[in-house]
Amino acid sequence: MTSPAPTSPEQWTAVDRYFCDLLLAPDPTLDAVLIASSESGLPAINVAPNQGKLLHLLARIHRARTILELGTLGGYSTIWLARALPADGHLITLEADPKHAEVARANFARAGVKSLVELRLGKALETLPQLVAEGCGPFDLIFIDADKPNYPEYFQWALKLSRMGTVIIADNVVRKGAVLDPASTDANVQGARRFNEMLAAEPRVSATAIQTVGSKGHDGFAIAIVVVDPKR
Ligand code: SAH
Ligand code: DHB
Ligand code: MG
Repeated sequence: MTSPAPTSPEQWTAVDRYFCDLLLAPDPTLDAVLIASSESGLPAINVAPNQGKLLHLLARIHRARTILELGTLGGYSTIWLARALPADGHLITLEADPKHAEVARANFARAGVKSLVELRLGKALETLPQLVAEGCGPFDLIFIDADKPNYPEYFQWALKLSRMGTVIIADNVVRKGAVLDPASTDANVQGARRFNEMLAAEPRVSATAIQTVGSKGHDGFAIAIVVVDPKR
């Protein structure tokens, strides 16, 4: 019995296509969202469709009514998450780039989720304290996907905006395996490493992380649940 040939990024992408064709309904709205984003010059660093649906399913499994997202881009992941909300649900998404915000707002209207979504323009390290000061939250689910060097600080803010049972998900915690390298000079990798270490050391959460391969290459998600009242 010969072992199968090693897989390649091309094959990961083909398998992603296989699952997307099989399990995701055709979605002209989300197709239009990605086309509008690309035509506006946004980088194609949104989650993959099957990852977007994973976020959506996790939000539904958790019966999330309130969601906070860090890093909107063109709103692709936002729309997947917003579609998991009940009609009276609410999603706040934080974005620093005014152009990304403008494209995202048009995409929210296009996708019919405008009334559920509130986009706050500004650096997340400035808008997060505002959310706390306004008494926003606690959120049922928090998705961290903005600039990677600030992930450790975002995690601390996420805890401030959490309750017992809040689910915290972070994208891009593997970075093609570069996360293994303690000597990495890449600030994104160091951000992910410090974030992962913080998850490990934080007694208020129970966490795991999963590598993913697919149309977005080799990366991964960390998933945590807050297991202690974070205000304690
Ligand atoms: N969640 C999106 C992808 C986000 S890409 C999706 O999957 O569809 C990361 C986004 O974070 C970019 O739009 C970038 O402009 C934004 N960003 C970068 N630094 C930021 C900061 N300091 N505060 C808020 N957003 C930031
Ligand atoms: C990249 C990918 C992401 O999912 C993200 O949120 C930011 C950047 C990237 O591949 O550069
Ligand atoms: Mg990401």
